[in-house]
Amino acid sequence: MTDMENMRRIFVTGGAGFIGSAFVRLLLEEFPSCEVVNFDALTYAGNLDNLKEIQDGRHRFVRGDICDPAAVLAALEEGTDCLVNFAAESHVDRSIHSAAEFVRTNVLGTQVLLDAARAKGVGRFVQVSTDEVMGSLPERDDAFFKESSPFEPNSPYSASKAAAEHLCRAARHTHGTDVVLTRCGNNYGPRQFPEKFLPLMLSNAMRDLPIPVYGDGRNVRDWIFVEDHCRAILAVMSKGRAGEVYNIGARNERRNIEVAESVLDALGKPRTLLQFVKDRPGHDRRYAIDPAKVETELDWRPRETWESGLQKTIRWYQENAEWVERARSGAYRDYYQKQYGQEVGAG
Ligand code: NAD
Ligand code: DAU
Repeated sequence: MTDMENMRRIFVTGGAGFIGSAFVRLLLEEFPSCEVVNFDALTYAGNLDNLKEIQDGRHRFVRGDICDPAAVLAALEEGTDCLVNFAAESHVDRSIHSAAEFVRTNVLGTQVLLDAARAKGVGRFVQVSTDEVMGSLPERDDAFFKESSPFEPNSPYSASKAAAEHLCRAARHTHGTDVVLTRCGNNYGPRQFPEKFLPLMLSNAMRDLPIPVYGDGRNVRDWIFVEDHCRAILAVMSKGRAGEVYNIGARNERRNIEVAESVLDALGKPRTLLQFVKDRPGHDRRYAIDPAKVETELDWRPRETWESGLQKTIRWYQENAEWVERARSGAYRDYYQKQYGQEVGAG
């Protein structure tokens, strides 16, 4: 068992992305003795704007690819207490268009990090995984993802994250690496790239553009505010048991259509903006997490309700129109066209 006293030198990968940047901010705010190396390749999803409020000598950004062993070894210092791996290709729809980058980063990249962590004697390795490795649940009130649920990944994205989990398990079993894994559901909050459903809805609705809803809109996701997820990772990192998996969720299941209606109502926009479009191939029907283990063992609870988290998120997007504009420019336009074609109008 470790605690934050022993967690001073942290190596974060993917810390310029949505969740990773929230985690880095939280670490620096809450732990004055922490030093963070933030290693990120700055892909389309990585954004230095996400870090611009961090003016702190305890934070060092290094641009690099987790698949490049030399770059990782050069940045990872001896004496690092913990490596937290957020770096990934993270969008399911993109993995359906093209899986290779997902296998490269999510699978090969994780192995490169595990090898480097072992070579440098890193104290603990936290792998940020996803509930999607457990597949899709039936629409029944008593069916939940538990840590013991079988692996049933259904998309190239979730299959690559499941493969990464297997590599972490193998590192623990074979080399005795101190690995802990987290599996969280759908995050929402400030700075999420607008390819994901919630920020896509917000940024489209704010421009009076249609909101694409896949299939019948009745798929269920289990939503959690990003900072609550980050606090749970902190708890796992500092108090989790080596070799264990922790499911993280806020007991907040909602159908997509309900989420879309809440967003439109909160923005004062008409529901006529909703546009049902062709379903995602292999679309998982329901995710629902049983978070009892992280709650009881690590005394973690979410701080935000759905209402308070959504309000904070909406406010952030309203106040950061430039961030959204920049995220929606350039290559995003090509992606939007490829994903939604003429069905949904301009991105
Ligand atoms: P994101 O796409 O916003 O950010 C990913 C970050 O990783 C970016 O900064 C990107 O530049 C970086 N990156 C990508 N490839 C890299 C590489 N080869 N080398 C170094 N850096 C690289 O993702 P996110 O939504 O913040 O998700 C972070 C992690 O959390 C991912 O591992 C994802 O699987 C997991 N996760 C996400 C959610 C969610 O709802 N978003 C839920 C559960 C788990
Ligand atoms: O559950 C955790 C996972 O949540 C993470 O591991 C992934 O990184 C993250 O992207 C997210 O995956 P989802 O596929 O659930 O998220 P996404 O935002 O893409 O979609 C949420 C739901 O909304 C899903 O049922 C598909 C639907 N959707 C999505 C988009 C982009 C739409 O109806 N229309 C859309 O345009």
